[in-house]
Amino acid sequence: MASIKDEVLATLAGVASPEGKPLTATGTLSEIVVTDGKVFFSITVDADAVEQWEPVRERAEADIRALPGIRSVLVALTGERAAGSGAAAPPRRPQTAPAGGAGGAAAARPREPGAPGAAHGPAGPAGIPGVGAIIAVASGKGGVGKSTVAVNLALGLRDLGLKVGILDADIYGPSMPKLLAIRERPQTVGGTRLKPIVRHGMPVMSIGFLVEEETPMIWRGPMVMSALTQMLREVEWGTLDVMVVDMPPGTGDAQLTMAQQVPLKGAVIVSTPQDLALIDARRGIAMFRRVNVPVLGIIENMSMFICPHCGTRSDIFGHGGARREAERLGVPFLGEVPLAMDIREKSDAGAPVVATEPDGPHAKIFREIAARVRDGFMAASRPAPQIVIEA
Ligand SMILES: Nc1ncnc2c1ncn2[C@@H]1O[C@H](COP(=O)(O)OP(=O)(O)OP(=O)(O)O)[C@@H](O)[C@H]1O
Ligand SMILES: [Mg+2]
Repeated sequence: MASIKDEVLATLAGVASPEGKPLTATGTLSEIVVTDGKVFFSITVDADAVEQWEPVRERAEADIRALPGIRSVLVALTGERAAGSGAAAPPRRPQTAPAGGAGGAAAARPREPGAPGAAHGPAGPAGIPGVGAIIAVASGKGGVGKSTVAVNLALGLRDLGLKVGILDADIYGPSMPKLLAIRERPQTVGGTRLKPIVRHGMPVMSIGFLVEEETPMIWRGPMVMSALTQMLREVEWGTLDVMVVDMPPGTGDAQLTMAQQVPLKGAVIVSTPQDLALIDARRGIAMFRRVNVPVLGIIENMSMFICPHCGTRSDIFGHGGARREAERLGVPFLGEVPLAMDIREKSDAGAPVVATEPDGPHAKIFREIAARVRDGFMAASRPAPQIVIEA
């Protein structure tokens, strides 16, 4: 019996490229990833040909979806500029082609860090219709609690009366399925668009809803952008005051590109109090400033430990480092979240503390932070003076 992958390949051989060649003979296909009935691959074409290829992408997706045993399909179409094809287009810089989206042309324009037009503002990426502000929760270092903070911050904003959505942009290690105990798959609307999963009154989207949790995510550069762009632009987000984006850790090329492609109103930096995490936080701040995304402030997570038995406080990672760093860098300090057993246990159980213990001390802290973040992104619409700092 042929494997699903063979059947997918045979199906793709029956899909014609714009020149009439079998898709499998065009050299545009990435590796085809099949896990548990879910199919994922990308088609990479010359940036100028993206529009002609969109019907091919759609056809490929539809034909694979019609195969028996297929649970979901995601075909990403990405455009790449060939080296030397124009001053504004650096060699092999990934360019995104959101499939069929109205914002496609604007979002597909290549941008180079630091180059004119790279900055947010009039020349920045197109917004998402219906979505007011998009804010990123980021850190230079991994494991500092970004995802935990992102979920609880989103809930805090919701408690302030805002309509909030959550986008899990950590395509390498999505956290939202676990943090919000989401196991169902998003439904499609009208064949191509996805309906987000709604939790605690908030629409949520994560690549983790489409692939198994244990599947290692290996992405080629251009696929990163298409996956993110599709989650932004091909999901029925509805009307939102604010979308909270849980970013992957680090300040590498992928993060920088994301910071440029997503029309961010501002970034919230999460750090633990230690020096090492703060150095990374500084890098994160420098990165966002380089692409003119306002830094809304720093949150010190795992700030202190209050013993649940005796109430004694211990500063496991130190305390106050992020506040001092925020002052030094001239960015707002948004608040301290203690290292608490409760926060970890609730996160791991998919029951975030702000939703499940709204009257508890931690929910209060997150709501206070949310109020400062809200004031920050509302003020961020006004242009701020640029401050240059060394990473
Ligand atoms: N304030 C806190 N108190 C106790 N545990 C916490 C706190 N914040 C986060 N954690 C725990 O720390 C671990 C890492 O948190 P989380 O996944 O949110 O970090 P992250 O920065 O998003 O990680 P990554 O860089 O891998 O995306 C989780 O087990 C989480 O429950
Ligand atoms: Mg995370």
